[in-house]
Amino acid sequence: MTKRTPLIAGNWKMNKGTVAEATALLSDVIDKMASVSGVEVAVCPPFTVLHALKAVLGENSPIALGAQDVYWKSAGAYTGQVSAEMLADAGVSYVLIGHSERRGRFGVAEPDFTEGVLKYFGETDSTVNRKTVAALAASLKPIVCVGETLHEREKNDTDGIIRAQVEGALDGVSVAQMAQIVFAYEPVWAIGTGKTCTSDEADRVCGVLRATVSDLYDAETSGAVRILYGGSMKPDNASELLVQPNIDGGLIGGASLKAGDFVSIAVAAASLPS
Ligand code: PGA
Repeated sequence: MTKRTPLIAGNWKMNKGTVAEATALLSDVIDKMASVSGVEVAVCPPFTVLHALKAVLGENSPIALGAQDVYWKSAGAYTGQVSAEMLADAGVSYVLIGHSERRGRFGVAEPDFTEGVLKYFGETDSTVNRKTVAALAASLKPIVCVGETLHEREKNDTDGIIRAQVEGALDGVSVAQMAQIVFAYEPVWAIGTGKTCTSDEADRVCGVLRATVSDLYDAETSGAVRILYGGSMKPDNASELLVQPNIDGGLIGGASLKAGDFVSIAVAAASLPS
């Protein structure tokens, strides 16, 4: 089987957003990662601190910078949007696309502001696709997030939702471009809730995702694509999730805000039996 380098990506969301806070957290991560190898690490802070963090990392840092969203147009009258070219210029190499917090709550005429309600989908499979294509064109590596809501899981729709989200995201993406794509399977009901999917079920759904890539492309492509698990991954549950055959790393929210916890998860990924 293809050897896939694990990736541990921290999604800081709208946290650590001042330059002082972001620099302190990143510096702590850099210190704690100094003796760790065998795992790739990325941090995805708010847009406004990307430039400052790039300056902290320097040119050849083993830690990659990621953004949390991207717009698909290069330039123009798109108030508030940030293009893939702008992100590349800021030193970004990864970009989260289609995170459930974006698929769920933003960009619609009447968003539902009730916490936990994902009724109105602002980000759709087609906007996720446009963003993915634009990111690839600017040589960014998309981390495409997919996952079912609790309601969809209870209706036994999980596998169909994952397939549809993966197929939708990859429309027009070539086999060669697939080498740049990372997926994150994040069951929406496990994000920020403390509820994790069992490791067996997370692995099963990541297997469905991998099989979808195989159907769309070929076995070699699906064997090489990295699939992260995300949703309440913490130091004490990371190893049992990361050891699963279809899970190649983690997209870490809450636990990425503490350097010690984040690096413990990276160490767990680096310590997997080869
Ligand atoms: P969590 O968030 O680790 O806090 O559950 C994961 C994510 O939203 O990417």
